[in-house]
Amino acid sequence: MMVATAAACGDSGGDGAAGGGDDAIVLGFSQVGAESGWRTANTKSVQDSAKEAGITLQFADAQQKQENQIKAIRNFIAQQVDVIAFSPVVESGWDTVLKEAKDADIPVILTDRAVDSADETLYETFIGSDFVKEGRLSGEWLVQEFADNPGPVKIVELEGTTGSAPANDRKQGFGEAIAADPKFEIIASQTGEFTRAKGKEVMEAFLQAHKDIDVLFAHNDDMGLGAIEAIEAAGLVPGQDITIITIDAVRDGMQALADGKINFIAECSPLLGPQLMELVKQVHAGETVPKRVVTEETTFTQEQAKEALPTREY
Ligand code: AHR
Repeated sequence: MMVATAAACGDSGGDGAAGGGDDAIVLGFSQVGAESGWRTANTKSVQDSAKEAGITLQFADAQQKQENQIKAIRNFIAQQVDVIAFSPVVESGWDTVLKEAKDADIPVILTDRAVDSADETLYETFIGSDFVKEGRLSGEWLVQEFADNPGPVKIVELEGTTGSAPANDRKQGFGEAIAADPKFEIIASQTGEFTRAKGKEVMEAFLQAHKDIDVLFAHNDDMGLGAIEAIEAAGLVPGQDITIITIDAVRDGMQALADGKINFIAECSPLLGPQLMELVKQVHAGETVPKRVVTEETTFTQEQAKEALPTREY
C-alpha cells in the first residue's frame, strides 16, 4: 500500500520514511522519544531492520508525550498504513485509539512496552522484555550481595517515567525480591523520567535529604549515570560508598560497571527491530502470531562487563 510520506508525518515531530518500494508493506511506528541511550539504540534497530526487510517505515517521535502518540496513530489510520507498531509511553488510556485502528482493520503491534487494556483483541501481539523479571533479578542480586550485612540497608530508587510499564514492573519485581528480608528499606523513591539530567537532579536531592544511603536502584542506566555525577560531586565514591544497581546494559552503563562505578546491571535489550519486522510481515499476511514474544536477556557483574564490553553492539 502506498502512502504520502508528508501527510503521514503530520505534526507528531521528528518523522521520516525509510526502506521499501511501491509494493512494500507500510509500517507506521510511534516511538516514545529519545530519552535514553537505550531508546537511541532501539530506534536505530527499528530503522535499520525496516530497511533490511524492505518495509516502508513511517516513523514518529512522541517526545515522551502520550497525546503525541495518539495523534501519530490517528495519522497512520488516516493514511491507511498496513500495520501500526508503537511503544506506549504509559500503560493506560489507549482503548479508544486502539479501537479506531481495529475498526479501520489496521493490525497493531505493541513493542517494548505494554498497555493495560482489558481487551486483548485491540492488538495482535506484544514483543518486549519481562520488566518484572529485570526488577526481580536486581533485587535478588542485592539480597545475595548483602547477605552478611546485618542492616538496616537503606535504598533510594530512581523510577522511570511515571505510569510507564517499565517503571511499574521494575518497581514491583525489585520490591518483591527485597521483601525477602525486612532489613531492606526503600527510604526514598522518585521519578527521574529515564533521563540522565533528571537522574542527577533527583539524586542530588536524595543526597541532601539522606546522609546514610547504602544503595541506589535506578530503573535505567541513564538515570544511574546522572546519579553517579551527583554522588561524585558530593564527595562520595559510586560503587563503593553507595552500591548502584541499574537496568539496560547500554555501552555507557557497561563502561561504568567495568570501571567499578556501578555494581550490577540487569540487561534490557533494545534490539527489537529484526523480530518486529518478522511479526509485521506475518501479521500483514494474516498469519497467527503469539500474543506475547519475550526478549531473551541476561545480567552483568563488573567482571562480566569487562569481558562483554569489547563486543557490545550498543
Ligand atoms: O522501555 C524501555 C526503557 O525505556 C529502557 O529501560 C529505558 O532506558 C527507556 O527509556
